[in-house]
Amino acid sequence: MISNLFTISFLAALSGVVAVGPAAVNLGTAGNYAILSESGVSIVPPSVITGSVGVSPIAATGLTGFSLTLDPTGQFSTSGQVVGELFAASYTVPTPATLTVAIGDMVAAYNDAVGRVNANFSNLASGAIDGLILAPGLYNWTTGVSIGSDVTIAGGPTDTWIFQVSGTLTIAGAKKMVLAGGALASNIVWVVAGAVTAGPGSHLEGVILGKTSITLETGTTANSRLLSQTAVALQKATVTN
Ligand SMILES: *[C@@H]1O[C@H](CO)[C@@H](O)[C@H](O)[C@H]1NC(C)=O
Ligand SMILES: *[C@@H]1O[C@H](CO)[C@@H](O)[C@H](O)[C@H]1NC(C)=O
Repeated sequence: MISNLFTISFLAALSGVVAVGPAAVNLGTAGNYAILSESGVSIVPPSVITGSVGVSPIAATGLTGFSLTLDPTGQFSTSGQVVGELFAASYTVPTPATLTVAIGDMVAAYNDAVGRVNANFSNLASGAIDGLILAPGLYNWTTGVSIGSDVTIAGGPTDTWIFQVSGTLTIAGAKKMVLAGGALASNIVWVVAGAVTAGPGSHLEGVILGKTSITLETGTTANSRLLSQTAVALQKATVTN
């Protein structure tokens, strides 16, 4: 009994110092944004975004629903829906160049994450991961992934997860991604080739690198960064990074 307890606490101590999972994905300057999009961000108020929002190469016309107030410098705008600043490719220098670098970093991060090989879990549950507990590691689905009941992402604060999804990622209304064991959203990457859709009142955790659109339906909350190579749409949603 004592030796079992010793073994358990020894392993617990060990797992606290040895990170499990794939090497971190470097977001570069894309990591400075809560939401970054190449073709536009639309919201339905009230939405609450904590962090910066950027769109490029599309102009500020790609920021819809925000009631923007352009700063006197012309370099950014503000909105009652955003605790932070909004940037667009049409704003005054240096904003366009800064955004071009950020978008390049976002695409590089996507390509890095999607290119990782030797997955620990391939096509787990055929993509229907309802109710599963997801240990640290590299996951690959050659299909879409659906979440029809709460999933738990369990591991320590230095552990990492990369979820490669070749199809769409869909979380049903009112269902949640739950963190356990000290797992951090910043160490979780969803790299998704198809559309990402979060149903009404659902909850997301982790960085989303989307090749296409990311849509958060009414009342969704996300402890996330939403980094999309096309558009991001929020319907009365809350995004915190
Ligand atoms: C995941 O796969 C990598 C590469 O094969 C391996 O080094 C690592 O130990 C695996 N991790 C887990 C948690 O199984
Ligand atoms: C998953 O694994 C397959 C087979 O190894 C690979 O072709 C694909 O690029 C990987 N990534 C994704 C996102 O499917």
